[in-house]
Amino acid sequence: MTRLRGRTAVVTGAAAGLGAAITARFLAEGAHVVACDIRDDIASRVADLHGPDASVTAVRCDVTRTEGAESALEAALAIHGRVDVLVNNAGRFGGSTLLDTTDEEWDFHLALNLTSQFVMCRTFVGAMVDQDEITGVRGRVVNMASQLGITAPPAALGYAVAKAGVIQLTRQLAVDYARWGIVVNAIAPGRIITGDHPGERAYLDEGTVDAATEFSLSRTPFPRLGRPEDVAGAALYLASDDSTFVSGSVLSVDGGWTAY
Ligand SMILES: NC(=O)c1ccc[n+]([C@@H]2O[C@H](COP(=O)([O-])OP(=O)(O)OC[C@H]3O[C@@H](n4cnc5c(N)ncnc54)[C@H](O)[C@@H]3O)[C@@H](O)[C@H]2O)c1
Repeated sequence: MTRLRGRTAVVTGAAAGLGAAITARFLAEGAHVVACDIRDDIASRVADLHGPDASVTAVRCDVTRTEGAESALEAALAIHGRVDVLVNNAGRFGGSTLLDTTDEEWDFHLALNLTSQFVMCRTFVGAMVDQDEITGVRGRVVNMASQLGITAPPAALGYAVAKAGVIQLTRQLAVDYARWGIVVNAIAPGRIITGDHPGERAYLDEGTVDAATEFSLSRTPFPRLGRPEDVAGAALYLASDDSTFVSGSVLSVDGGWTAY
């Protein structure tokens, strides 16, 4: 359990769901983690989730804003002196059809699900390019996309377009910064049951299947839906030396949904 020993990772959206699972997996592999979230209770959440002795620093920030990205970078550099891995995980599903999408809804989804990753990448890659190499790499970025950035879901326009943008952002940065030793990849999860969303608690606790869960099960060849640990394992691979020659890729973690 030492695949990230001594490495510093910044994880956004770390108070819940996939971000909390990625943080836990990285800590278990020996990383120091800077856990960023917009939630006011991020510090107590991190302490509750990972214990008082974990090498994790909570930073409350809004990752859609350059000031938020800079405060996360400053905290990481002040404590650890470098950032080896950035995981751009913060985001939220939602949206509607074209004719029902307001300007405000469109702006919200683009800002949270795409602009945040642009802002964080610009801030962190800017620091990574000046770092010394470790095993031939100066920094790694893992962007959270979605299978819904590859396939078109019903009535989720802003989210789906933003996640498609995340995939192209990933490829563009991988190409532009490869010569600087920066490795950039994306994860495209399918439906992952975190237990934090309506209907999921009942599914986990009682096996009750609501309409959204039934739809996801019907579209997933593997005979279960995803778990946060499935995504955390993919993030660990892309954050570790095991994937050094992997860049510009989109790793589907969807039980075969997009292959079907
Ligand atoms: N759960 C799934 O099935 C699934 C599937 C595909 C992709 N994803 C993607 O994975 C990521 C995590 O999903 P999740 O289900 O764990 O979500 P979640 O809602 O459980 O957690 C997201 C976290 O991001 C934080 N956050 C929101 N806005 C923020 C901001 N402006 N600045 C900083 N933090 C902010 C929230 O406070 C929350 O703690 C998202 O990008 C999502 O689009 C999730």
